[in-house]
Amino acid sequence: MTLQKDLISGLSKKNKIIPSKYHYDLQGSKYFEKITQQKEYYPTRKEKEILKKISKKIPALFKGSLAFVELGSGAADKIKILINKKVKYYVPLDISLNFVKKSAFKLKKKYPKLIIKPLKVDYSRRFKIPNFKKTTKVCFFLGSSIGNFHYKEEKKFLINIRKSIGKDNFIFIGADLIKNKKILHNAYNDKKGYTAKFSLNLINIINRTQKTKLNIKNFYYHGFYNSQKKCIQGFLVSKIFQTFKIKNKTIVLKKSEKILVEISNKFTIKSFKALASQTGWKTQQYWQDKKKYYSLFLLKS
Ligand SMILES: C[S@@+](CC[C@H](N)C(=O)[O-])C[C@H]1O[C@@H](n2cnc3c(N)ncnc32)[C@H](O)[C@@H]1O
Repeated sequence: MTLQKDLISGLSKKNKIIPSKYHYDLQGSKYFEKITQQKEYYPTRKEKEILKKISKKIPALFKGSLAFVELGSGAADKIKILINKKVKYYVPLDISLNFVKKSAFKLKKKYPKLIIKPLKVDYSRRFKIPNFKKTTKVCFFLGSSIGNFHYKEEKKFLINIRKSIGKDNFIFIGADLIKNKKILHNAYNDKKGYTAKFSLNLINIINRTQKTKLNIKNFYYHGFYNSQKKCIQGFLVSKIFQTFKIKNKTIVLKKSEKILVEISNKFTIKSFKALASQTGWKTQQYWQDKKKYYSLFLLKS
């Protein structure tokens, strides 16, 4: 079982870590949707501003019929801005399949002719994108999810997708940009506490799946911008000394010990272009919102 293996290995390390993909059970996906509606969380608003700006130009950018493939599609809210008559297929790929099926159902009501094929995929591993004959594949990786990879694994991910979709297909990637530290800090510390709830929900997920009896009140969320690493780091911090068992492995958490549960790397236009070219993609165009907080890149395989 992957979650169990990752928990045992991540919680046995000196610097404890739980991969962020495990946040997304149904409740986690709902909390994330709430985060995107918070005033402090600018990435969703800024990305939508860019998508609205370019939506009319999209059909002219690609030849023939299109298959839109969205990785980590979540609520499938942003794709609605871009769907046009050339789009025959929409393939939302996500680890949180039940949530995505619900979003797909809503989308089908709005676009009855669109062929929608939701699939459960863990994109941090190798995966295949379905093939569509005589159709240009246009992938989407939005929500600044490209910033969530550890240990430079975004490179493996980008190479895998490029190989999987084949030559002369495309991907749109949303990348959050380095900016004022306070704006970044506030985005991951919303006043209503949804980011904290989203992270603390991991304790519920551990209890439910591993039959542990951890008390959520014995943890708090701590998120901040690490200017040296140019990334947001989100931690769950243990308020007390506590021990628990995952399978047969005893996990020890000291008082004030931190578990890294989320990172969000931030980019510059230059650093993102370099990442694209190092992974064999050609940058076609990029756009920014008015305040230059956020960027959207169109890459060709
Ligand atoms: C940051 S949210 C972005 C959601 C949406 N794309 C947006 O722009 O608002 C990340 C999404 O990716 C999904 N996700 C996270 N890790 C994943 C993984 N390893 N494989 C597949 N989906 C993943 C989550 O379930 C969630 O829907």
